[in-house]
Amino acid sequence: MISIPVSASTDYNVLIERGLIARVGEETAKLTKPARAVIVSGPNTYPLYGETVTASLEGAGFEVLHFIHQGGEPAKSLETYGKLLNFLCDSHVSRSDILVALGGGVTGDLAGFAAATYLRGISFVQIPTTLLAAVDSSVGGKTAINLNSGKNQAGCFYQPIAVFCDPDTLKTLPDADYRCGCAEIVKYGVLAGGELFDTVSSGGIKANEEAVIASCVRIKSRIVNEDEFDRGMRMLLNLGHSIGHAVEKCSGYAVHHGDAVAIGMAMIARAAADKGFCSESCRDIIIETLKKYDLPTETSFTADELFEASKADKKISGGKMHLIVPEKIGSCRIKSIDIDALRDWL
Ligand SMILES: NC(=O)c1ccc[n+]([C@@H]2O[C@H](COP(=O)([O-])OP(=O)(O)OC[C@H]3O[C@@H](n4cnc5c(N)ncnc54)[C@H](O)[C@@H]3O)[C@@H](O)[C@H]2O)c1
Ligand SMILES: [Zn+2]
Repeated sequence: MISIPVSASTDYNVLIERGLIARVGEETAKLTKPARAVIVSGPNTYPLYGETVTASLEGAGFEVLHFIHQGGEPAKSLETYGKLLNFLCDSHVSRSDILVALGGGVTGDLAGFAAATYLRGISFVQIPTTLLAAVDSSVGGKTAINLNSGKNQAGCFYQPIAVFCDPDTLKTLPDADYRCGCAEIVKYGVLAGGELFDTVSSGGIKANEEAVIASCVRIKSRIVNEDEFDRGMRMLLNLGHSIGHAVEKCSGYAVHHGDAVAIGMAMIARAAADKGFCSESCRDIIIETLKKYDLPTETSFTADELFEASKADKKISGGKMHLIVPEKIGSCRIKSIDIDALRDWL
């Protein structure tokens, strides 16, 4: 088993092992006294893995309850969040009980925010079942729901007590969702360079799945250890995200997060090359790598539409926003720009 420590306001481990999903009860019982465990999951994931996780938790002495949300980005809404909190209240879930986020980034973000805020915070574990959640959203404690004005507008930093990643769960993941995880992995590759980028740029994510997940989690862990609250280097993880979030919003969330991030990365790479921040070959290899995983690199939304959508970005303060700009593979910089200057980058 691979165990990667994360040291933040709570210290915990990310455990990665094939078959781990059948042992999450045992592993959870090492961290918290068996109590009640509320599995939060979606309509696709729960039928696939709900029974195994329930059996494992019950076998370790937990009493298991379930909350199944409607699935997809709309589940990260005030309405679903409210339903989940009311479910916890109605079920008399107490502070010694735990939430178990079983699913992708949507489930993790929703369950994490509920865990953070219900009774001022109860423990939760993450069981990521998408590639994106395995490499990114399950680690680092960012939890959120969306508001009408944009993505992740209500949320907080709240760390899980453990992350249990079973790469075997990715076997049932539809290609389109696997591809979305690849976008975040390309992001890590561009940020870190080296062996990870070599593997990623040669199309080797699937063939080296476990090692690639572990590399990404190690990078994320290092960054979160340094900057849990996103005031400095953690912002680098937003490569492709400022424009990506605008694409998601313009599409009414029909464009999935990973696809939108891929478009955002390609657009920022093109703009960076045009402005002389990176070479044309750096731009080209980023775009070619995205295309290797069938990721989109262009959008039909206009610069004006993206600009309007970007204005709600919560990372804007005092009219300034931080753009993550590639300089070369293995090196990106945080560039602070006036929001009005964003037009030139779109
Ligand atoms: N908190 C963070 O740090 C962070 C980081 C990156 C992304 N995010 C958020 O994550 C979300 C995207 O996450 P996602 O791409 O995992 O989307 P998702 O949670 O919607 O999952 C994608 C789809 O895959 C299905 N699914 C999940 N696991 C499956 C499995 N093993 N087999 C078959 N189907 C399965 C889901 O039901 C869903 O339909 C976005 O809301 C984004 O904002 C958060
Ligand atoms: Zn992301």
